[in-house]
Amino acid sequence: ADNGYKLWLGYSKVTGRQLTDTYRQQLRYLIFPAASVQLNAARAELLTGLNAMLDLKPAEVKDIKGGQTVVVGTPQSLKALAITVPDSIGKEGYLIKKTLINKNQCILIVGNTDVGVLYGVFNFLKLIQTHRSINELNIADRPRLMYRVLDHWDNLNRTVERGYAGSSIWNWHKLPDIIDQRYIDYARANASVGINGSVVNNVNADALILSHEYLLKIKALADVFRTYGIRIYLSVKFSSPIELGGLKTADPLDPEVKKWWADKADEIYRYIPDFGGFLVKANSEGQPGPQRYGRSHADGANMLADALGPHHGIVMWRAFVYDNKVPDDRFKQAYNEFKPLDGKFEDNVIIQVKNGPIDFQPREPFHPLFGAMPNTPLMMEFQLTQEYLGFSTHLVYEAPLFAECLQADTYRYGKGTTVSRIIKGDFNRKLITGMTGVANIGSDLNWCGHPFAQANWYAFGRLAWNPDQSPANIAADWLRMTFNNDESFLSPVKKIMLQSRENTVNYMAPLGLHHIMGQSTHYGPGPWVDNAGRPDWNATYYHRADSVGVGFDRTNKGSDALAQYAPEVEANWGNLKSCPDEYLLWFHHLSWTYKMRSGRTLWDDVVWHYYAGVESVKQMGGAWDKLRGKTDPERFAEVKQLMALQLKEATTWRDACVLYFQTFSKMPIGPGYPKPE
Ligand code: GCU
Repeated sequence: ADNGYKLWLGYSKVTGRQLTDTYRQQLRYLIFPAASVQLNAARAELLTGLNAMLDLKPAEVKDIKGGQTVVVGTPQSLKALAITVPDSIGKEGYLIKKTLINKNQCILIVGNTDVGVLYGVFNFLKLIQTHRSINELNIADRPRLMYRVLDHWDNLNRTVERGYAGSSIWNWHKLPDIIDQRYIDYARANASVGINGSVVNNVNADALILSHEYLLKIKALADVFRTYGIRIYLSVKFSSPIELGGLKTADPLDPEVKKWWADKADEIYRYIPDFGGFLVKANSEGQPGPQRYGRSHADGANMLADALGPHHGIVMWRAFVYDNKVPDDRFKQAYNEFKPLDGKFEDNVIIQVKNGPIDFQPREPFHPLFGAMPNTPLMMEFQLTQEYLGFSTHLVYEAPLFAECLQADTYRYGKGTTVSRIIKGDFNRKLITGMTGVANIGSDLNWCGHPFAQANWYAFGRLAWNPDQSPANIAADWLRMTFNNDESFLSPVKKIMLQSRENTVNYMAPLGLHHIMGQSTHYGPGPWVDNAGRPDWNATYYHRADSVGVGFDRTNKGSDALAQYAPEVEANWGNLKSCPDEYLLWFHHLSWTYKMRSGRTLWDDVVWHYYAGVESVKQMGGAWDKLRGKTDPERFAEVKQLMALQLKEATTWRDACVLYFQTFSKMPIGPGYPKPE
């Protein structure tokens, strides 16, 4: 076994005579002229996949042999056949269909561009990987978002901020001379799900990344990525003109500063003509930014946008800003700073907003900026690396978390204004749209640490392609491609995946509790943290437990953060009658004896959730045990051990939290619950 190195591109042999025969019959011949690097890569992928899955080497022909030929390319590469491709699938879309060309039936995989063909090929291979019928085919697909980007929080010394799967895969020391096979496989995996951008360095950026030496290394990576339709981006430090350029200031309105950035952009594009642009974390968590000079986020972003604009690059400017010197509820700060800047950004700026207002907690309400900036493109930022979800030791399939946010209704343009529609730009005439995922990738043999963490990378790509896909379908595809197509394996494991995030919410932070994890590591429980050095890093700041009750009052009697949402959302979450249990303690401070929907008191319900969370991890372990022999023994054993560890840690979370909150509630843990360990 490859122990997971091949990700979902293992191309396992198709079993079953009938299935194999119908595939082989229809794929006997190939017409695939490949004059570009991208088409070549697509062709190589197709041949690798067919050979591995079906022992098949289609013969290359000039003329279609009816019913037995696959035809792949663009209208240009297939000139002789006079193929037409509709404009509606755009630059990156593809068609996979059964059709007649010169009266001969064939399977056609086409796009308007080479990269569209590449996506088409990967999706055709997926049909075979997942054992779908190819007897009738009529698929037309295109991405709903333009920028589908992974953010690596990788440092130049190869440590990875919040990375739990080894060290950075970028070997800066050996670049640009040594091109690790991993870079190629990384790019293949991304292309297979439609990811078309990669920010290779940490948002807490080192100015050195823009030095001549590093730009040569970046160019080497860009050359690999380009083959797979991926553009490279860099996180930049706002003060680079000082650190790298020797200027006295980084004031965005200073002419010398502007010139420094414009020259730097020119230099980058000399090496990398399709360079994607910059990602910027400014004036947050100690990072420099325009506010240091009394300028706004818009001043800062626009200055960089002007430098990149002539080269068609973009600026992804992060809205993750907070500051303990601002005395208001941290929840509110991004909205307070960015909302007034709506419409003030250049056309090639997109504001990158985390899914929730605090920081990738196990459950957060959607960020109030979504829908609140009609004249500014907003890009979704999800976190794939499990900073607050048990690192790479806990099995947490994150697609349900992503979908919960994407399908949340902002009501900003009436009912049905989901976050998904906001980020797709349905209500915005500006053209930039995007989604980004903080990568969970490292040098571990299996890339992501936990075998199931790969599913989060995969699911991110699928949702960035089309944010409205269902987590269940994505899980099923991933399982089929990564493990096998055996129903008796698929159905229990899919169930495990789909429940896993809620389990984790239950044993970590149920009922809207948030930010109660261990200080600085963000691993393990820490609801008692009250001396983190600044108030907004204390757990007590968020849960506000006292002898009366628990929770953060964000109604108009409290911090009034709810006023940042549309009136419908504010009314829904602000009212105890309608606020769902999941968000209760995000918005309300309630007494321990408050009567919940379940009929239990709040205290009993808190206890119930923590115990249910642990119980479900036990059940998950039991379900996995039954699957011995249904997958390779290596991954089976690895997952089994991880689940045992997860159970231990879930129990620690439960006991620590329940016992801690009990010091306030002074109420007993109900009968029937085992004693905390
Ligand atoms: C979190 C995380 C930091 C990270 C920051 C960010 O706060 O703990 O390590 O730098 O998010 O998104 O910028």
